Amino acid sequence: MESMNGGPGNTFNMILDQLTFCGRTLTEYLKIFDLDLSQWRGAKILDCPSGASSFVAEAGKFGISAVGCDPLYGKDVKDLIERAKNDTERSLHEINQYPDMYNWLFYPSMTGLRQYRNAAMERFARDYPVGYTQGRYVQGSLPNLPFEDRNFDLVLSSHFLFLYGDQFNYDFHLASVLELFRVCSREVRIYPVQSADAQPYEAMPRLLNDLEHLHISAMIVSVPFEFQRNSNRQLRLFR
Ligand SMILES: C[S@@+](CC[C@H](N)C(=O)[O-])C[C@H]1O[C@@H](n2cnc3c(N)ncnc32)[C@H](O)[C@@H]1O
Repeated sequence: MESMNGGPGNTFNMILDQLTFCGRTLTEYLKIFDLDLSQWRGAKILDCPSGASSFVAEAGKFGISAVGCDPLYGKDVKDLIERAKNDTERSLHEINQYPDMYNWLFYPSMTGLRQYRNAAMERFARDYPVGYTQGRYVQGSLPNLPFEDRNFDLVLSSHFLFLYGDQFNYDFHLASVLELFRVCSREVRIYPVQSADAQPYEAMPRLLNDLEHLHISAMIVSVPFEFQRNSNRQLRLFR
């Protein structure tokens, strides 16, 4: 029998080992999601997967109640940071091999990019130990999240779903998008809509069609951020 990640049997842990555990800062999230936090003051926002991102750590000062969710949460902060440092260096090394696949506008150089990744990691590391006990960091995996229906006003999901288009099959993508929608009361934003090799997610027309049949409003919209070439669009779902 085939599992939703397209592999035989229990390949979930193997896939989890292969995916990058790293993080971005709130500044990067504002661009990636084309997010104006003044419009979401007082809102509950879910960041899934949150990885070693500092969005949850930083959003409080904008009057946002943010929760991060990731399958690796629950581990000790030292283990998470060791994993994040290793994965970040691996991913920077890969980017450095193919610099022409990227626009060097937001990040002017590899040094600038590394500074953003390290800043996110450091802010996450400072916030996570207390945040985990407060329930601001929650262990959970798509496509089954441990939250009530419509628990969050806005749900953000970056650098996971369509980026790993070949590790997961269509059923996983659809189930995950529906799960992100289930826990949101207003909007879901998913970025990017292309795979790690810069190709558009090929099943997007089918996904949009399936969402339409389920009477879920969805559209692809441009965002003011394009690091990997052509990755300047996101999928938005609305209630
Ligand atoms: C590249 S990070 C993205 C983190 C953050 N959103 C960002 O943009 O910096 C990908 C994350 O996906 C998480 N992940 C792996 N499998 C998952 C699943 N089934 N459901 C949710 N998250 C998963 C990994 O643990 C990792 O933290």
